[in-house]
Order: sequence, then C-alpha cells, then structure tokens
Amino acid sequence: MNIYKVMPDLSNERQMRLWYQGIRKQWSAADLDWNAPRRIVSDKLRDQLGRVLTPVLTGEQSALYSVSGLIPILGHQSQVEAQFYLTTWAVDEARHTELFARYFKRIDREPLAIRRFPAGYLFQSRIASKDPAEWLAGVLVSESMAQVVSHELKECDLDPVLSDICSGILEDEARHLGFNHIYIEDQFKALYADDVIAAEEKADSLRKRVEYVMEGVPPIINALSEEMKDIGIDIEKIQYTLDQVAKDRLEKAIRGGRNQALGKDKPIEEPEVEAARL
Ligand SMILES: [Fe+2]
Ligand SMILES: [Fe+2]
Repeated sequence: MNIYKVMPDLSNERQMRLWYQGIRKQWSAADLDWNAPRRIVSDKLRDQLGRVLTPVLTGEQSALYSVSGLIPILGHQSQVEAQFYLTTWAVDEARHTELFARYFKRIDREPLAIRRFPAGYLFQSRIASKDPAEWLAGVLVSESMAQVVSHELKECDLDPVLSDICSGILEDEARHLGFNHIYIEDQFKALYADDVIAAEEKADSLRKRVEYVMEGVPPIINALSEEMKDIGIDIEKIQYTLDQVAKDRLEKAIRGGRNQALGKDKPIEEPEVEAARL
C-alpha cells in the first residue's frame, strides 16, 4: 500500500519556483505552423535527417518513461516539490516525443530499427535508475547532449518547423537542467551536513555514473558522423559537451551543496534556468 504524507510542506522555494515556471511555460505541437513550405526536398537529406533524428526521438521517449516512473518514487520519499516539478517535466518529454514523431512524418521517413542502430538504444539503457540522484546524474549527459544537438540543428536552419521545434526544446531543456542542478545541490547540502564521508562517497558514485553514461555516446557519434557532417552539425562542439559540460555541471551542483552545508555559500542567486542555458 502506498503511504502518502498528509500535508506536504512545500518549503523548497527553488523547486516550487521551477514548478510554476514549468506550468506557465507550456506550449504544444499544435502551436507550430506545420504547413510552412517544405524546404528539405532531396531524398538524401531526408534519409540523413531521419538517421540523425533517430537517437533524438529515442531519447525523448525514454525520458518520458523515466520521468514518469520517478514521479511516484519522489512521492514515496515525501519530496513533493520535486514530484510536482516532474509532472511538468513528463509533459515536456511527451510534447518532445510528439514533435519528433510528427517531424518524421513531415520528412516522410522512419527512425532506424534497433538492430540497425543498437548504440542509440544501449545509451538510453545506461541512464535508467530508480534512484532520483543517480538518474539525474545520467540525465545530465543526455540533457546536455539534447541541448547542444537542438542548438546545432537550429543553427543549420534546414526547415522552419525543425527550427521552431528546437527553439522550444532549448527553453524546456534549460528548465530540466535547472532542476537537475537544484535537486543535486539540495541533496548534497543535506548529505554534507549529515555525514561528510557518506557525501564524498555519493559524489564519487555520481561521477562514475556520469562517466558510465558518457561512454555510451561515442558509438552514437561514430555511427552517425558522416550524416552529421553533411547536415552541418559541429561534431567537435558535441564532443566538447560530452567531455566537459555534463561533468562540470555535476561538479558545480556537488560543490554548491557542500559549500552551503559548510556555510560558505548561499544558493546561486541567478535564476537557475538562465544558468542552464548553453
Ligand atoms: Fe526532451
Ligand atoms: Fe529533457
């Protein structure tokens, strides 16, 4: 039987702020102009885009599954503010899944089958976890990748519909990464205040987790490098994101929690969502 806390205290102000942002900033696939003229006419470019967007669609769908799965887990842990926020995160990932599913139809292509593209599916299986902090550490890699790929696709300016999809997703991803920071920072603030050795051990386990998830990315890039280059995606920028950005974000969140527990630092004053932009 599930046991619910009778009265959520809702005292985590930063998580509550993000929850309001998550509600207020909703938008829908129906807001886009799907009748905009189709600029991508060559069969070759459609084929290439269909391959490059395969891990994107897979990523959105897996995010929808994992976020939805964590909503009851956070509830059971009485982390109600985080649970609230994840309901909006799940809506975001459902919208992203719909957008790319519809986009595949627009270019008249299908995503690659698992047997033709195992790297994309194996990467997602590395992220799955029922522990919120562990899952969020792995998600730092996939969300940072989603952010840089959306940015690159928008810059390529291939099709107004794709650019609009990517602009909207960039806004949503900044919120997701903002929550990721706040949640991990809060966890480490509590852990360091309670037991420094246990906190250091947890920090190391999350660092290993990020490394483990990152190892799943190069096979995806290798499988799609030709298509990405032809489309105009900057592979070096993606590589840099892989090597640095996700790790830096994790360190910043751990450091923030530790400093707050030791009374050295206040939570970052700048809006977390702004800080999570590329
Ligand atoms: Fe997404
Ligand atoms: Fe996301």
